[in-house]
Amino acid sequence: MTVIRAKDYDDMSAKAANLIFAQIIMKPDSVLGLPTGSTVLGLYGRLRDYYWKGDLDFSRVRTFCLDEYVGLDGDNRQSFGYYMNKHLFDHINIEDGNAHLPDGLAADLEEECERYNDLIESLGGVDVQVLGLGGNGHIGFNEPGDYFKKSTHLVNLDESTISANARFFKSIDEVPREAITVGVGNILSAKKIILCVSGEQKADILRQVLTGNVTPQVPASILQFHPDCIVVADEDALKNIPAD
Ligand code: GLP
Repeated sequence: MTVIRAKDYDDMSAKAANLIFAQIIMKPDSVLGLPTGSTVLGLYGRLRDYYWKGDLDFSRVRTFCLDEYVGLDGDNRQSFGYYMNKHLFDHINIEDGNAHLPDGLAADLEEECERYNDLIESLGGVDVQVLGLGGNGHIGFNEPGDYFKKSTHLVNLDESTISANARFFKSIDEVPREAITVGVGNILSAKKIILCVSGEQKADILRQVLTGNVTPQVPASILQFHPDCIVVADEDALKNIPAD
């Protein structure tokens, strides 16, 4: 893994945005896997700015979202569909048909997981998978467990994830208990992975991800095996990793 040390949150956002900027310039029809969460808000802000300034064109870019809660519709402010529209898609020239999301309201959720998995495969290869890091080491919603789940699947969210995400809901009881997430195999199939991490509260888990054993108990640790994984993290998140 290549670790890029950023000074702070803004610097992390700028560095990650510039990597994606370069990707889209090099390949205008890039396939990007995109996460939600607080960590990538600054990155999405910078991509919006690049578009507004006329420096980036998203008209041929294809994206798929990593995950979605079960049971929230796209108008629900806490759904990941709402998040992606609000923070990115409503502000750039991406074609509706090119921005994909799992449907957390599908009547048959297992079938929806298969459909979404096939869809990702039909995009012809993922160029860049952008990731945030859960406080328990999750990527997408691949929670700690006994084994890595390869393909898109239905997941029962960890108690720690429910508590961490309760900050976005009126009460913890409103946080969905289930989600659809792409699998670790989908993530690893990307040609390039950009893992964004910010803040002291992620320092311990980031140390485990970068230097610990590869284990499904720390799902992001599998990224050690990826041939082109770039970790863009700020000094606070890297405080347990000595600089060279
Ligand atoms: C969320 C999402 C992940 C995200 C992670 C970190 O629950 N499922 O895709 O990367 O947790 O979130 P944050 O950036 O808010 O810490």
